[in-house]
Amino acid sequence: MSTTSTGGAAHNGTVTSRAALVRAARGEPVPHTPVWFMRQAGRSLPEYREIRAGVPMLESCRRPELVTEITLQPVRRHGVDAAILFSDIVVPVAAAGVDLDIVPGTGPVVAQPIRTAADVRRLRPIGLDDVAYVDEAVRLLVAELGETPLIGFAGAPFTLASYLVEGGPSRTHARTKALMYGDPETWHALCARLAEITGEFLRIQARAGVSAVQLFDSWAGALCAADYRRFVLPHSRAVLDGLADAGIPRIHFGVGTAELLGAMGEAGADVVGVDWRTPLDTATARIGPGRSVQGNLDPCLLFAPWPVLETEVRRILAEGRAAPGHIFNLGHGVLPETDPGVLTRVVELVHAASAR
Ligand code: CP3
Repeated sequence: MSTTSTGGAAHNGTVTSRAALVRAARGEPVPHTPVWFMRQAGRSLPEYREIRAGVPMLESCRRPELVTEITLQPVRRHGVDAAILFSDIVVPVAAAGVDLDIVPGTGPVVAQPIRTAADVRRLRPIGLDDVAYVDEAVRLLVAELGETPLIGFAGAPFTLASYLVEGGPSRTHARTKALMYGDPETWHALCARLAEITGEFLRIQARAGVSAVQLFDSWAGALCAADYRRFVLPHSRAVLDGLADAGIPRIHFGVGTAELLGAMGEAGADVVGVDWRTPLDTATARIGPGRSVQGNLDPCLLFAPWPVLETEVRRILAEGRAAPGHIFNLGHGVLPETDPGVLTRVVELVHAASAR
């Protein structure tokens, strides 16, 4: 296995360039609508709960063999059209020197929140040596996956900033907004540094061979469009622009972003992820021409009786035809209580109902 980078994802890009996921992202014709699920690797799978027993979340992200096995589990079980690297959005931030933990049932918790210019200076840039375990995991996975694309990912500056400023998950993002409105200079310095870290983290994954990347701005929906454009868009655009040379599709996702879809479409991604609140045809009109869409089944519908779920899957497939390309997904992550058998059945339905 070579560990020398050739720049870009040349090798794996060739192997997976005909994959339905990559083609849909580029708006090219597909044999069927590709499907994968956010959080497809995780607590809904008994084999995941078994292999993770006794291993803390961050620790598991730093063991390439374990990452490889967990990432492959949902591909084997469900026959999804892509794997997503098992990791977390806070992994590169921890690698940049922030003392944090991922607490089960809560999420990321930061020991000393970042709220001042001096705090921002504590965040150092990252390089390959800081996340060598991610580089290794991606290389192992690309070798195992063959023609199935591996999606790399990272957290967008706003969503990462929220965890760092709040010190943990927040419903209102009040302290984050206090910094944004009260000290814009420090806010922009923080987001610029996070954009550097995230950009480098994604380029490392691209060089190791991922076939696409997703930028998670899960909490951007907390902002109005004007504030999003002023305080967030330039930083997310810097991340996405920094990947233009990698030659792989870029997916840009957030929750509650109905009012932001136009702006998110301008940030430079090839695909915009949409939650369940906005029908995909409406979303396509808001995003503007030339972008594919990803989504957007409500994760709670996976608990509904099958005929109800089937009707909704077919509706989403029909609405997705309004876009140049459609990648079927949930509107947010798989909930831990989900019956994995239902996920497999949704994959089969999406493939059968969309076969061209
Ligand atoms: O399958 C996949 O989608 C890949 C794996 C993945 C994880 N986290 C694994 C994980 C991805 C893409 C993420 C991204 C992530 N992490 C986001 C963006 C996506 C989103 O959900 O909006 C966010 C906001 C985080 C932060 C985070 N990490 C939260 C809120 C939690 C949940 C805490 C809990 O226990 O409820 C985590 C932990 C986490 N990340 C788990 C997994 C599988 C659960 C940990 C466990 O299994 O013990």
